Amino acid sequence: MTDRRPLRIAPSILASDFARLGEECNAVLEAGADWLHVDVMDGHYVPNITIGLPVVESLRKACPDAFLDVHIMIEKPDEFAPLFVEAGADLVCFHPEASDHPHRTVQKIHEKGAKAGLALNPATPLDWVEYLAEDLDLILLMSVNPGFGGQAFIPSTIRKLRDLRNKLSALGVDVDVQVDGGVKPTNAGDIRQAGADVLVAGSAIFKRDDYAQAIADIRNAAEG
Ligand code: DX5
Ligand code: ZN
Repeated sequence: MTDRRPLRIAPSILASDFARLGEECNAVLEAGADWLHVDVMDGHYVPNITIGLPVVESLRKACPDAFLDVHIMIEKPDEFAPLFVEAGADLVCFHPEASDHPHRTVQKIHEKGAKAGLALNPATPLDWVEYLAEDLDLILLMSVNPGFGGQAFIPSTIRKLRDLRNKLSALGVDVDVQVDGGVKPTNAGDIRQAGADVLVAGSAIFKRDDYAQAIADIRNAAEG
């Protein structure tokens, strides 16, 4: 099950030095990152404000070949998701509770030519994927409550990952599963084993001096 899809590591730029964002992004890409994870927060859906459309536009220019994985923790995803695709996102992942019509949000992202992801908070049940899974490209399980980097991994995520994999098998659907929050070398093996394909890591990469070593430590732990 776990070797079904290749493992990808997506550094969350939330933990980077924003004053040197382009440099930081290119540094992790050179250090072996597969995707760049961009955490957009609006101060309403989550109690924090981070970055918005102009920053994604600039990142697209600074890292033209990077896969921009844009995680929007915002209200009105219907309205903004297509704008993030226009700004340069390759994938836009949104929270279904924030959308009046989650399936329409998925359609709008696809119409603009990007991949669509559904993000589920730690207490959000898997029921949301029941009739949406076949139209999704990725399902993100939050392993912390959204809003801040540097929080501790919530252990029940492992059980939820296994349940999600079983549910997807029963539905006959094959999509990427991503885990976001508190990922580090000491838990990456369990997360991968339980069925994750894409591991987001902020602090565990950007708070280390050697990005290549930090990424290799997570990758080795996950594949080991
Ligand atoms: C939390 C964000 C995460 C977070 C991950 O709302 O979605 O991407 O920045 O950061 P770490 O790896 O530090 O938990
Ligand atoms: Zn995120």
